[in-house]
Amino acid sequence: MLGSMEYHGRIAQGCASFSWGNDLNTIFEILSQRFDGFNDNGFYAHPDEVALRQELKEVPILRRLAEHIHALDAHGLVLRNLGLSGLPEARRNAALYALTLMLGYPTSTDQRTGRVAWDVKARPQTGDDGRFVTFSERVGSADMHTDSSFYPMPEERFVLYVVRAARCDGGHSVLISADDLHRALHRTPEGASAFALLSATPVPFRVPAVYAAGDEQLEVHVAQVFTPSGLQNERFTMRWRYDSIKKGLAACPDLSSPELVQAVEIVHCVAEQEARRYMEQLPTDTLMLADNHRMLHGRTTYTDERRHLIRIRMSTVPNAERVGPSGVVQD
Ligand SMILES: [Fe+2]
Repeated sequence: MLGSMEYHGRIAQGCASFSWGNDLNTIFEILSQRFDGFNDNGFYAHPDEVALRQELKEVPILRRLAEHIHALDAHGLVLRNLGLSGLPEARRNAALYALTLMLGYPTSTDQRTGRVAWDVKARPQTGDDGRFVTFSERVGSADMHTDSSFYPMPEERFVLYVVRAARCDGGHSVLISADDLHRALHRTPEGASAFALLSATPVPFRVPAVYAAGDEQLEVHVAQVFTPSGLQNERFTMRWRYDSIKKGLAACPDLSSPELVQAVEIVHCVAEQEARRYMEQLPTDTLMLADNHRMLHGRTTYTDERRHLIRIRMSTVPNAERVGPSGVVQD
């Protein structure tokens, strides 16, 4: 049902070869019964999400799709022709919510509304007051990063679904696997030292002002960039957001040192310019699934303001068991 897969390192790419058929109606009916309104079609983390997942597993397409995705030996998946193009927003987002609930527990992206499905598209600029403007609100490039890096429990996975691809030369989605970042860092002694230092020494990640409780309040989360994974064949997991670390180090001089600052600059340089990367302008109706602990992601600049993606982040543990803020960010 995933068609033939082509691998780019740890990223699997292919075309969907199935039809949703009546299963789309079944999904819509199940969610209509379970949800008190679809929250402006953004849904919310359902209070009975464990039971809801069991119920959705009875829908053949969802169960088989989740089984095929779990069986891939990949940290990223790019699946074209998902089959949701042209659907009304409520039906499309219902299918995406149901699919992501098969792959994890979708978290609320927006603290205020509780929305799980976040529209990644250009929004009017609001950054003139010097506040940290988030990536999904700008028509610009996004440095390589992991999502929710400044919170205690960054979600393990996320999906992006392309509602409308950029009709310009830019807007490429970029992915770098942990393996490729590690390989590129170890090409030089300075890179290897940076990896060792950032594996041993926690750094402060500054929580962007737009996400923090009070705009003027300083919030940081102190964590390691690279953490041994404990799994066989997996060296480490990572959290990374260059601008957040830079601001964190500037705000917390006690946690900074020239060596640490240099290590952060080296990783930034290797992530932005040197490590092998997957870079594609994803067509409309493509689903991208990425491991948020083993992949960096970013985006190239684009000019088409009508580019529209939907992002949903998933945790491996139910929302009730999560610690700290949960997926409230828009990065
Ligand atoms: Fe992101």
